[in-house]
Amino acid sequence: MTTVKAAIKVSPRRSVPAASKTIALSTPAYPAGSLLSIAHLAVSDVSTLLAAATRLEKEDTLKRMKRLEGRKVALLFYESSTRTRTSFELAAKSLGAMTTLVSDKSSSIEKGESLKDTGITLRSLGAECIILRHPASGAPFLLARETGLPVLNAGDGTHEHPSQALLDLRTILAHLHGAARANAVTEKSLAGVTVAITGDILHSRVARSNALLLPRLGAKVILCGPTALLPDEAAALGEGIVIERDFEKALEQANVAMMLRIQKERLAGPQIDLENYIARYQLNSERLAACAPRALVMHPGPMIRGLEISSEVADGPQSAIAEQVRHGVAVRMALLTRALEARTAVAGGKA
Ligand code: MLT
Repeated sequence: MTTVKAAIKVSPRRSVPAASKTIALSTPAYPAGSLLSIAHLAVSDVSTLLAAATRLEKEDTLKRMKRLEGRKVALLFYESSTRTRTSFELAAKSLGAMTTLVSDKSSSIEKGESLKDTGITLRSLGAECIILRHPASGAPFLLARETGLPVLNAGDGTHEHPSQALLDLRTILAHLHGAARANAVTEKSLAGVTVAITGDILHSRVARSNALLLPRLGAKVILCGPTALLPDEAAALGEGIVIERDFEKALEQANVAMMLRIQKERLAGPQIDLENYIARYQLNSERLAACAPRALVMHPGPMIRGLEISSEVADGPQSAIAEQVRHGVAVRMALLTRALEARTAVAGGKA
């Protein structure tokens, strides 16, 4: 693992990128069909992807199985995952693709093989697309560059989790505007919508991808949490991002309350008093009823019940947490189709 990290330009843990007023609209330097950062997608790309997700979800199962029949997709996971890994795998299989899972626990990675060599090996074995989760921020960029294959970022360190932002968006749109309008995404789709993201923002790639995406569609994003988990610099993540330390004030404005887990595995520096954190920031029934009785409750998982969220809220009528997981499969089918169609075009061009 040390070798892998050494080979990659790792972003410093506590840094927050400067405000990105100009969002790149394409990733010319990386293989077509890749999704490395949500900032690489134009709003029209997001719209195309969500429309494709709905088409694929509704499609006849047998017809859908023909779409990527026989194509080879590798899932390369250096960190644990339940939702992301399973939904990418089910998405690939629903499209007829063959999948193989390589994890750091049961492969040559354990013997010290570098990310580059693992990627090249997977390509030699016929992989046409790699889905990568890695503890080092930036790892998917390296893999895409070294293999020339489309890479889908399934979470890199504290950097980004772009497919999570897309499925979160689909969940929000389906709730606020109804499933029929969840596809046509514009700069105004979330006008008048306030999303409060609360918890361990510092270590959250989910918060970063959502903060880069949602304001571009008109949403107001409030980041909420104690200074140890939410440095003031986080306001620079995107235009119009507001920091609110008082959870109740944040909730009072929220149409969507997105809760985040405290990432103990990444808490190298700050240690927080959990009792105090629960008292100030837990989303429980009393708080929800008093401050946001109509807000949609979201969480990317895994949830720590009793810490950032109470069981009553997680299982309650305002919760969209299980729905988020369902949207993940459709969104990932769209991403895989995009990646493999791009790969076909590249291979065809070379022939
Ligand atoms: C992630 O992989 O970033 C998760 O979905 C969120 C978490 O780990 O808490």
